[in-house]
Amino acid sequence: MSVTIHPAEPLAQLEQWDEFVGGRYKEGKSEEEFRVYDAAATPGVAEFYRLNHEGQSVAYVLEKEKQYFGLDKGKKTIWEAAEFLNTLVDDSDPDTDLTQIEHLLQTSEAIRRDNHPRWMVLTGFLHDLGKCLCLYGEPQWGVVGDTFPVGCAWSEAIVFPEYFRNNPDRLVEKYQTKYGIYEPNCGLENVHMSFGHDGYIAEVMKPHLPVQSLYMLRFHSFYPWHRHGAYEHLTNEQDRAMLEWVQKFNQYDLYSKGHAKPDMKQLKPYYDELFAEFLPEKVAW
Ligand SMILES: [Fe+2]
Ligand SMILES: [Fe+2]
Repeated sequence: MSVTIHPAEPLAQLEQWDEFVGGRYKEGKSEEEFRVYDAAATPGVAEFYRLNHEGQSVAYVLEKEKQYFGLDKGKKTIWEAAEFLNTLVDDSDPDTDLTQIEHLLQTSEAIRRDNHPRWMVLTGFLHDLGKCLCLYGEPQWGVVGDTFPVGCAWSEAIVFPEYFRNNPDRLVEKYQTKYGIYEPNCGLENVHMSFGHDGYIAEVMKPHLPVQSLYMLRFHSFYPWHRHGAYEHLTNEQDRAMLEWVQKFNQYDLYSKGHAKPDMKQLKPYYDELFAEFLPEKVAW
């Protein structure tokens, strides 16, 4: 059975956001050029960001963390989780578009080709599995999108900052200050990020994977930080040490997607072994 994204959603498919970000960071654009690029976004992408920036408030994030970070949605193997994500069929052409599993394999295989550590290959395969939030009924704007801290002033480095205009946190004075509800250099570990697939998959993998991997999972869409250097005042020594890993990973997230279909049959034994090396057979989601 396949599940179709609600027709009222602004993106025809979740990948439309990934593609937008990919175009945005192509060929080292200047900050000025980012703005020009953002302004030219399709109406669907712009509407998606408007909903995201209006909806991602402190109250919303705390509620979603409570709903999902307890990991009580059932136990699944990685293949089961990937198959589940594959049932997310949106408005795409089944003949030319790759399945979600094929997208994951393209990322992990590119990392493998460059001889990175095995945990990083695994991270490549896992990093977007949290998109299954859509199948739990979460709206697109609560699943994908550039992430940012909530509970403190929004950085101008966040794409479409003007769309925060109608976020309810605009009216909370404390949330509009530089540090907001946080201490200076408290560490990103202690920061509530806007809710989405990144934070969710990091929570799922927290008991199992090394800290570098968890940074890649949790912050892979935190472009204001890893691309623009924003929110340094909230980071600690560990964050600064991990930044280069997050940046290394971002290259694969953005640029490893192509049209060639990975050969599942041939690759499966390698991934069976890789999953078994780091993870229990079933993982709590
Ligand atoms: Fe992602
Ligand atoms: Fe991705």
